[in-house]
Amino acid sequence: MLDALRRVVPEWEILTVTETDSTNSALKRLSEPKHGTALLAQTQTGGRGRLGRSFLSPKGGLYLSVLLRPQVPLSRLLHLTPMAAVAARRAVADCCGIAPDIKWTNDLVLNGKKVGGILTESFGGCVIVGIGINCNSDDFSDEVRAMATSLKSVLGREVDLVSLAAALILRLKEMDEALFTQKAAWLEEYKTGCITLGKKVQVIRGSERREAFAEDLNENGALLVRYENGETAVIDFGEVSVRGMYGYI
Ligand code: BTN
Repeated sequence: MLDALRRVVPEWEILTVTETDSTNSALKRLSEPKHGTALLAQTQTGGRGRLGRSFLSPKGGLYLSVLLRPQVPLSRLLHLTPMAAVAARRAVADCCGIAPDIKWTNDLVLNGKKVGGILTESFGGCVIVGIGINCNSDDFSDEVRAMATSLKSVLGREVDLVSLAAALILRLKEMDEALFTQKAAWLEEYKTGCITLGKKVQVIRGSERREAFAEDLNENGALLVRYENGETAVIDFGEVSVRGMYGYI
């Protein structure tokens, strides 16, 4: 398996483990991480999501993180998470023949339910893009089942995890190469897949919830909303979460 993955992007260092706490955390612990180090795990015991949430990571899912050293300040990387969502969407389409929708900012969605998520983190000049996709495990609790799905549930068959990992690594390499040269085209593709746009949403900041209309994205992928009183705002990725009016999307 490792050989097959290494052949996909020979310039990158591809590592695999059966289990780790979190592939993002494991990459952060490397002593001299090289640009293009990717780690794929079969399970995570402490998978992490945005806003301090946990990400359930049983066997049968895909948990992949890649570490990049883009050599620019973080302020020039605001579009990285949206571009990673496009890379993940393309990889699922390559491998499964269906392109997931994107719920702003970082959720992959099929049939109105979350099938994957992206956690981007930075430290010491590095950024880590971690992607988790529910593939062949659909053993969700009732509470999770209301919001989550798996590729297997949608396709009616199991997905080959190595093929999907290979497609994802290839698409992430493509993203890395396009990061500063094709940003606008990738963000247009993000918009095409983004189901949040044109909808009423709730903007949730801590305990505060405000209804708004999701109008557009700016050049970095931040969400432009109009509140009911006509005020507009730019919602960036920080501590904000956006929900549909009547549920997850
Ligand atoms: C989210 O849904 O808020 C983001 C989920 C990101 C999960 C992936 S799985 C691989 C990597 N390792 C982690 O601990 N998190 C990301």
